[in-house]
Amino acid sequence: MADTLTIVDNRTGKKYELPVQDGTIRPMDLRQIKTGPDDFGLMTYDPAFMNTANCRSAITYIDGDKGILLYRGYPIEQLAEESDYLETAYLILFGELPTASQMRQWTHEITLHTMLHENVKKFMEGFRYDAHPMGIFLSTVGALSTFYPDAKNIFDKDSRLRQTHRLIAKVPSIAAYAFRHIVGRPYIYPDNDLSFTGNFLNMLFKMMEVKYMPNPVLVRALDVLFILHADHEQNCSTSAMRNIGSAHVDPYSALAGAAAALYGPLHGGANEAVLRMLNEIGSVSKVPEFIKKVKSGEGNNRLMGFGHRVYKSYDPRAKVIKRIADLVFTVTGKNPLLEIALELERIALQDEYFISRKLYPNVDFYSGLIYQAMGFPVEMFPVLFAIPRTAGWIAKIARPRQIYVGHGARDYVPRDERP
Ligand code: CMC
Repeated sequence: MADTLTIVDNRTGKKYELPVQDGTIRPMDLRQIKTGPDDFGLMTYDPAFMNTANCRSAITYIDGDKGILLYRGYPIEQLAEESDYLETAYLILFGELPTASQMRQWTHEITLHTMLHENVKKFMEGFRYDAHPMGIFLSTVGALSTFYPDAKNIFDKDSRLRQTHRLIAKVPSIAAYAFRHIVGRPYIYPDNDLSFTGNFLNMLFKMMEVKYMPNPVLVRALDVLFILHADHEQNCSTSAMRNIGSAHVDPYSALAGAAAALYGPLHGGANEAVLRMLNEIGSVSKVPEFIKKVKSGEGNNRLMGFGHRVYKSYDPRAKVIKRIADLVFTVTGKNPLLEIALELERIALQDEYFISRKLYPNVDFYSGLIYQAMGFPVEMFPVLFAIPRTAGWIAKIARPRQIYVGHGARDYVPRDERP
């Protein structure tokens, strides 16, 4: 069987044979198809990149129909069970799970860079008391390019690695400063004795205690949420990162643009929108009425946290999050909005409108309930998405598809058994 596609142009009767590679054809091969010498040649028209791969990648694999998500071949469920965010970030960036010594070195590099320059505090002061923390976050990330002019050397491998360490390490500090700013509390310096997520909780919630001791259940929950959000193929914000990066700008400026894309309510802002929607519904008894409004298109309402460009079945991340929610609620007490969310899901999953359009809960449907129970205001939700997605953004440096050329599915190997 030849790996080619034969096309007959019925306008001219001419026949063309195009190579097929990795299940794709090259649009540039269509350019030769012309009706006459003045014809520019055939192009493809694919608004929103519904069926166009714009890169080859070995990082993340998604099968949207089967609800499968793999990072470098490892199923997301296994990583959520066994790994932590910092290890997963290493995996995404460098391709393999780290050995014990690689992990020690990686953790050391990250903890070395958690501090922010003191000047960051000064310009953060300039934001109003009610500034949205995502606005603070994305402008501060962009401003980091002025602190690290060496980041412009994007073709220098050592410089790229240094900026990678800085970005992974500093985004939680920026997020925590933004949070402390809006709640009117003093900024807290990092505590490098703690884990990545433990220290983040410290920078967020430390009050007068000499040493902040994060609750291990919440540390674990945050790690799992960060793992689930770390990467997701060529999504809107990652595409923004790649587009901006293609102009050879420094990674801080590119990441500010990616964070701006994530801010939108149809992307990373959806978890915030879910909470607003649940509050607006207000009680379980109002759920049928709300579903009716969504179906009729009244008020332009969508069922936020439902539907996905790629997943046409249950988002595998939503399944893991639902389990984590139960765990978190044992510490924080149940979020009263949970009942409304469960009822929305129950009704939607039986309703012809949602079934026929293959609309299922996505990663954002339950994550906001957990964040709220942990004490985050809704405005912080997209910021909490941006912290782990930093790993995915840097790893890739329009939603186009991609050609996945990485590992097939493989099982997670505990650290002391790795070669
Ligand atoms: N509620 C009601 N109807 C919906 C929804 C929804 N959440 N999502 C899609 N539809 C309908 C839509 O109206 C359309 O119906 P029709 O064919 O009758 O016009 C059909 O389903 C297809 O919609 P679409 O907009 O063409 O689908 P898409 O694949 O382009 O959109 C989406 C994907 C995520 C933008 C959309 O499902 C949505 O707006 N969901 C709500 C926002 C949300 O939860 N976003 C988080 C995405 S996951 C995290 C992330 O990656 O950022």
